[in-house]
Amino acid sequence: MSKLLRGGRIGSARKDVVEFTASIKSDQKLLEAVIKINQAHVTMLTEQNIINSKMGAKLLQALAELDPKMKLDPSLEDVHLAVEEEVNKKVGLDVGGNLHIAKSRNDQVATAIRMALRTNLLELMNLIVTLQDSLIELAEKHTETLVPSYTHLHPAQPVTFAHILIAYVDALERNLKRLEETIPRVNMCPMGAGAIATTSFPINRNRTAELLGFSKVLENSIDAVGSRDFVLETSANLTLLAIDISRMAEDLIVWSSPDFGIIDLPESFAFTSSIMPQKKNPDVLEVIRARMSQVLGNFVASASTMKALPSGYNLDLQELTPKLWESLETVASSLCMLSELAKNLNINKNVFNKQVLSYSTTTELANLLVKKYNVPFRVSHKIVGALVKTLLDKKLALSGLTPELLNKTAKDSAGITISVKLADIKDSIDPQKFVESHKTMGGPAPAEVKRMLKNRKQLTSQSKTSLKEQKSRLEEADKQLKSVVQRYSSSQSKKVT
Ligand code: ARG
Repeated sequence: MSKLLRGGRIGSARKDVVEFTASIKSDQKLLEAVIKINQAHVTMLTEQNIINSKMGAKLLQALAELDPKMKLDPSLEDVHLAVEEEVNKKVGLDVGGNLHIAKSRNDQVATAIRMALRTNLLELMNLIVTLQDSLIELAEKHTETLVPSYTHLHPAQPVTFAHILIAYVDALERNLKRLEETIPRVNMCPMGAGAIATTSFPINRNRTAELLGFSKVLENSIDAVGSRDFVLETSANLTLLAIDISRMAEDLIVWSSPDFGIIDLPESFAFTSSIMPQKKNPDVLEVIRARMSQVLGNFVASASTMKALPSGYNLDLQELTPKLWESLETVASSLCMLSELAKNLNINKNVFNKQVLSYSTTTELANLLVKKYNVPFRVSHKIVGALVKTLLDKKLALSGLTPELLNKTAKDSAGITISVKLADIKDSIDPQKFVESHKTMGGPAPAEVKRMLKNRKQLTSQSKTSLKEQKSRLEEADKQLKSVVQRYSSSQSKKVT
């Protein structure tokens, strides 16, 4: 247990109470950021002559010696005290006791979460792009592969498999953009806000922010320590992403069922039953689907925690942080699984042999009567509907349709006399011709999906460049901080400028 905050206002501590309230178990992720924040803060204090350069140098040396991966003592309250304790161990209380001048754990923790989060967000965004790449690669192999699309989970119309995969790529793109738009609101620096009302020491908030690679100071000190909308915004964005991931998993589960028989999962991603030898179960996808609910749960728990909080810091805020990390990790690992799965997925090329799917081209049969036989669409819709009913009664596929039956149905159901040619019928009910004719922008035609894929490839390559740039900006800030810290650590006596 740390004695740093004991023996003043509060005397003894109870081990079980400290353990119950502590955040130390989930603070490991913040350690690196907390060390950097202390380094930047001490640098700023030295530059502002709030502490002398000798003291600054000693503090910076001690901080530089800390291992950002060191195991945190689980008996401590949190990472902030852990770092202060370590520095005190190295330089004693006379020097170490000044590490906390003009700062509070309240501004420090908000800053640390933002720093860890911005790095995590960039990593997650990279994983989104990796999944987009895998889907695009798979789509390129299936620009001509016919699969049924579904509405209400009933067969709707034939599409190409690439068409479906591009739908996922596009949803992922919007998720990517949402996260990208969140980053500037994450990348604002609360340091200097202190506990709630800043400080009377003549600090330079801009300098601390700059040393830590932030693009802005989060100005109002009450807002800076008491707000977590950046956590909720991220968590909400992760929830939207999780919903899309879950739906993708659900699609793959359904399509892999032998009843649908559209895809064949790689064996390395499937599991069998302990009793039913025939089974090849989609366990990975089911776990993904379930875990995505936890992401939604974390958002709801965090938002409910926030909504009743008075402004300023409350320890309730501490409880949001592990949920944020959990959601990020859960989404990240699921994205990785899906990327790998997509690389190994097999598609059944003969799925349209099934009688039940033969009816999925009937929209085109109705269109034929409009285009060539001058029948109003609402009437042709009725005729073809009646025709499907007859075929189903006779247990016939749509390929069993004859011009005589169609002409008779037109007469019987709508009182219309037409004489449809067999060749026209054949053309309109062929799934291949169906997709080829649906070359409207955004449609399933091979030419159109090839065009879309070309465009989506450009988008992912732009995303990769932008992510690299953002990452290198953060690395550059780290380098700057390191070199300033090195310079100031080695200047023991002379004033550093
Ligand atoms: N462990 C705390 C957190 O994660 C740090 C801030 C504690 N501040 C306080 N006044 N108790 O939010």
